[in-house]
Amino acid sequence: MTSPDKDMLTIALPKGKLFQPSADLLARFGYTAEGLSENSRKLVIANEAKKIQFVITKPMDLPTYVEYGAADIGIIGKDVLLEEARNVYELLDLNFGLCRLMLAVPAALKREKLSDYAHMRVATKFPRVAEQFFLDHGIQMEIIKLNGSIELAPMVGLAEMIVDIVETGRTLKENNLIEIAHLHRATARFIANRVSFKMKFDRIQPMVEEMRKLLSEGAIG
Ligand code: PRP
Repeated sequence: MTSPDKDMLTIALPKGKLFQPSADLLARFGYTAEGLSENSRKLVIANEAKKIQFVITKPMDLPTYVEYGAADIGIIGKDVLLEEARNVYELLDLNFGLCRLMLAVPAALKREKLSDYAHMRVATKFPRVAEQFFLDHGIQMEIIKLNGSIELAPMVGLAEMIVDIVETGRTLKENNLIEIAHLHRATARFIANRVSFKMKFDRIQPMVEEMRKLLSEGAIG
């Protein structure tokens, strides 16, 4: 499935931290639209002259839009791609939006080794990634899926630990949590629907090449 209008290129942008740098990058190709803003109530914003339209999604939903062809291309974090495991082309590491997926625990609960935490409860927005990490380490845990403000969980006894994104480390520090294991490093990725990439190759591939050039010049990231 691809976008209904064959001439239109539909670009998915995620709300949140990656929205602005992603919109800024696309603006370098002249790909912008009047009223394009993360807080826009309008969720589809078109630029008829350029034959593009933007869709603004929740980050976790973005790979789904791209997999089903409701969007041809998009920019999203590797953390979300790992969690969602959607069938999309990952065309380029854009080298911005750097963050780490970490396992963290309240300082008072710190133990010697990972296996000492076995059977504890882990709150996370990334249950698949967390599950895989514990499986790889042969530890059984109880995973509790949350949708945000993960750091709250250990403070109120919902879980002992968290698996979450760390960017500056400020949120962990302010909530007296310490990092105990590193799961993944994540940056923004340029992705495409598999069919769109072939059908709209003449539009998508030049973007890939231009982005690659900007990356090699150190102009992104
Ligand atoms: C993310 C993440 C942490 C915070 C980390 O949350 O879940 O809470 O950012 O950033 P820091 O290391 O710079 O403090 P986000 O703001 O995306 O919102 P959420 O908690 O609702 O998921």
